[in-house]
Amino acid sequence: MKGLLPWALAASLAFVQAGAQPARSIEDLLSQMTLEQKMGLVSGTGAQDPAIPPRVAGAAGSTLPLPDFGVPQITLADGPAGVRIAPAREGSDKTYYATAFPIATALTSTWDVELLRQLGEAMGNEAKEYGVDLLLGPAMNIHRNPLTGRNFEYFTEDPYLNGHVAAALVNGVQSTGVGATLKHFVANNQETNRFLLDTLVDERALREIYLQGFEIAVRRAHPSAIMAAYNKVNGQYSSQSHDLLTRILRDEWGFEGLVMTDWFGGNDAIEQIAAGTDLLMPGTEQQATQLRDEFKERLDPAALDRAVRKVLAAVFSSPTYGNYAFSDAPDLAASAKIARHAAAESVVLLKNNNGTLPLVAGELSIAAFGNASYDLISGGSGSGDVNEAYTVSLAAGLRAQTFQIDAELESVYQSHIERRYRELPVPQSIFEPVLRPEELPLSSELIKRKAREAGVAIVAIGRNSGEFADRKLEDDFNLSAEELRLIRTVAAAFHTEGKRVIAVLNIGNVVEMDSWRDAVDAIVVPWQGGQEAGHGLADVLSGRVTPSGKLATTIPLRYSDVASAQNFPGESTDEEPVQDGWSRFSIGQPSAVDYAEGIYVGYRHHDAFNVPVAYEFGFGLSYTEFSYGEVRLSESNFDSSLTVSIELSNSGSVAGKEVAQLYLRAPASRLDKPPRELKGFAKTQLLQSGETQTLTFELDSRSLASFDSDRSAWVAEAGDYTVEIGASSRDLRSRARFTLAAEIALPVERALVRR
Ligand code: BGC
Repeated sequence: MKGLLPWALAASLAFVQAGAQPARSIEDLLSQMTLEQKMGLVSGTGAQDPAIPPRVAGAAGSTLPLPDFGVPQITLADGPAGVRIAPAREGSDKTYYATAFPIATALTSTWDVELLRQLGEAMGNEAKEYGVDLLLGPAMNIHRNPLTGRNFEYFTEDPYLNGHVAAALVNGVQSTGVGATLKHFVANNQETNRFLLDTLVDERALREIYLQGFEIAVRRAHPSAIMAAYNKVNGQYSSQSHDLLTRILRDEWGFEGLVMTDWFGGNDAIEQIAAGTDLLMPGTEQQATQLRDEFKERLDPAALDRAVRKVLAAVFSSPTYGNYAFSDAPDLAASAKIARHAAAESVVLLKNNNGTLPLVAGELSIAAFGNASYDLISGGSGSGDVNEAYTVSLAAGLRAQTFQIDAELESVYQSHIERRYRELPVPQSIFEPVLRPEELPLSSELIKRKAREAGVAIVAIGRNSGEFADRKLEDDFNLSAEELRLIRTVAAAFHTEGKRVIAVLNIGNVVEMDSWRDAVDAIVVPWQGGQEAGHGLADVLSGRVTPSGKLATTIPLRYSDVASAQNFPGESTDEEPVQDGWSRFSIGQPSAVDYAEGIYVGYRHHDAFNVPVAYEFGFGLSYTEFSYGEVRLSESNFDSSLTVSIELSNSGSVAGKEVAQLYLRAPASRLDKPPRELKGFAKTQLLQSGETQTLTFELDSRSLASFDSDRSAWVAEAGDYTVEIGASSRDLRSRARFTLAAEIALPVERALVRR
């Protein structure tokens, strides 16, 4: 391979016919390969270069084909909300749209693992029909701070929920034969200085909060791949950490799949392979040169062989290798149905005074205020964005269910939106944010007139964020002055007429609500609900679907109440970073961020330190009521497992589903503990009024344990444990106690990821 870059080598080889079977096993093959071929295989075919078109236009990357060995190239594509490929191809009239499903934050709000599995299957089928072998998702970084630009791609602030929703999604994707990739491993909780940032985190927090979700998903769903994060963890790049990638991921958790870098991540290809990375993505000239020049001195050939084996195993289990004849015509109509169902199920109803919702179709004309009523934001930007064929707006969704939308307002907003899009600069690359029209200042006269004419008001507030930048506090987490004025003026005018006001939050992650929530009668959060969001939201507003979504992340009263507010995004520095090519992005940016809050992230912090919240973790209203029976335990002394059950009844008047959450309060004699931690959840089927269902939960030793860094062990302390089951983390309906007679310690090998 001397003198040739991996991608150039790829280009110089004829494409291997899919389906060519290897004449030999991976071991035979390995013994036949030259060192150059091995080095080529562990590096992707390069960033997209017009000279070397990828097999699937717009996909994020590919592996190197080795035609002599019958090893085809496989294709990797983003991402968490749907398959990200180019919607059009040169010289073809055909379109290649993929379904934009609701964002991860929305999907978690369903707390419905079966739905996540089905949706994963739909995503996997689309990937497969477009010739994609490995999906670069789900993304499962913890919602540590609401300003994180990519929170929309991530699920929740809670590690248990994180692991279970990710596992369900992975199981769905992989049931189609397409592989799933968990990312970004690990502690990648901000965009600011993401290529060089050093995350300083104590081992207990790393284990309990940041690693635990990955551990659950690895153990339960056996994902094909893991993507190491860009950042360093306690001084070492994740993609170069033997502790993370080999000792913890492989040796401790039994991960057998492929480890890849994030795109251009880390700074030392040799160290990456030595640490346990198998595939360098997207594959660069610098990496090829380094591998070639430094291999002999710095890399154990066994490490390179391990990486080659993993890449070959990924290739051999791919649809491409199995000669799958992809159609380029996935069943988008079937996916759209699932997307709509998921959009409706993810809606969280936060407030509903005096039965404002559901609305009755035909009886009311709706005055829809706010750009987001007409220009719905289906998902965030960057690699987590999907090229979908259409997005159903809120106005269109309501109209489809025979609601009347005020025509004058619609036309005022539409012309403002269209004009501003003509004027605003169009992003020239994925690195630039998508600019959205600012809120239109409406005259008080117009608002007052609408209050007389229309039956009810909706005020929709939209937020967009994405890869490469974190959110701002002002005019983003905190609503802008214009948005606040709109909410307050509309509320005052409609209330004067005795009419109601519904706020709709079309957001990727939480916003401040305390300063304005009293002004409105109902608050609905459809998140960024994907291309079918307008239909899904209208299903809930009309009462066709009873809302059952619950918050997977706390909505704080104010930003300063968030545990990490003092330590996000780290201290800025004037020093110029010296390390590598990413330095130009880093000047003046924090070089490190201290996770000083430790395990006290999200509700663990708010509950432990009695910090009031606007809406707590797990909260969400319904159009019906549920009554909870007594918590029943299979035994009162814990041995190695325990079954918990509870009866739930729909005691209200319409059919609905309820998400019951199990929290555990553990004794804190040696280690400090949050007052409660989520250790189980279950969603009922659709219960008719008066109907009852028994839900069961299993607890095992790990459910009781916290990580004791001094002893390098998960330790369940002896003593009394309280099981609390409720409708949210602060609405606990029934409890029971059990005892653990003697401590249980589950030791792990001492890892060196500590601070
Ligand atoms: C993102 C990854 C993504 C990759 C390929 C990176 O910038 O961090 O999440 O999978 O690009 O598009």
